[in-house]
Amino acid sequence: MNKNQYYTYHDYEKSADFMRSRLKGYKPELLVILGSGLGDMAALAENATYIPYEEIPNFAVSTAPGHAGRFIAGTINGKSVLMMQGRLHLYEGWTPFEVAYPVRVAKILGINSMIITNASGGVNSSFKAGDVMIIDDFIRLCLENPLIGRNIDEFGERFCDMTYVFDKEYASLFEKVAIARGVTPKHGIYYFASGPMYETPAEIRAIRALGGDAVGMSTVHECIAAAHTGMRILGISVITNMAAGVTDEKLSGDEVIEAGKRISEKLSAIMADFIGKM
Ligand code: HPA
Repeated sequence: MNKNQYYTYHDYEKSADFMRSRLKGYKPELLVILGSGLGDMAALAENATYIPYEEIPNFAVSTAPGHAGRFIAGTINGKSVLMMQGRLHLYEGWTPFEVAYPVRVAKILGINSMIITNASGGVNSSFKAGDVMIIDDFIRLCLENPLIGRNIDEFGERFCDMTYVFDKEYASLFEKVAIARGVTPKHGIYYFASGPMYETPAEIRAIRALGGDAVGMSTVHECIAAAHTGMRILGISVITNMAAGVTDEKLSGDEVIEAGKRISEKLSAIMADFIGKM
């Protein structure tokens, strides 16, 4: 899609109609976006229906490592869930409209809650690799924004409030169920960096000075679209590595995916508890 082209409400409806035809009366109530290396969480879904993105009209298809590229609709602890195994990133060349597209389709399907996960680098020096961070807020100091262009009033207001993007009740419930499984989550601010290169140590110092606790290449555009349309959001970031320059170690993409996988099983169990109780 051209950078200056925007989707119409009709485009989103067309995708939603196709999804409805594949879901055959099944009505998911929760969207779960799975981040790098966390795709294993998809195995939690019972009676799963798989819908590859490439079959859906108007859908862009993920190319990032660790991202499969399909929806999985199924039941987790009695809740009807629509999971995204694979998301789109700006660094793949997608526009923010494409990145946020599935969230708006989910809204048309009647979904009003979203769990969004990602892998990130720890900026806060009290964090360590393997930590789980509840996203309290985010910083997105880049031009790209899925709300630019003609406002689609069916989704939300032109000037959308962002005071409470992340739902406090969801955050405290997640914290409770995580602690019950032996994981004490951190809280922090997610700083969006476009990637695909990791940040420089000087950038990480700047991000820390600005108030970022973790840095990553996803999540914020989906959250903007979800907040615009009034969804309640739980944002969870897995600290897969300490960000550049926080330690003497160099960063590697393979290690990030491996670290995501290591925590994936535990996080899946916590998510299943959370979903059952929400
Ligand atoms: N920086 C940006 N994105 C990331 C990182 C990082 O250090 N780790 C995982 N995703």
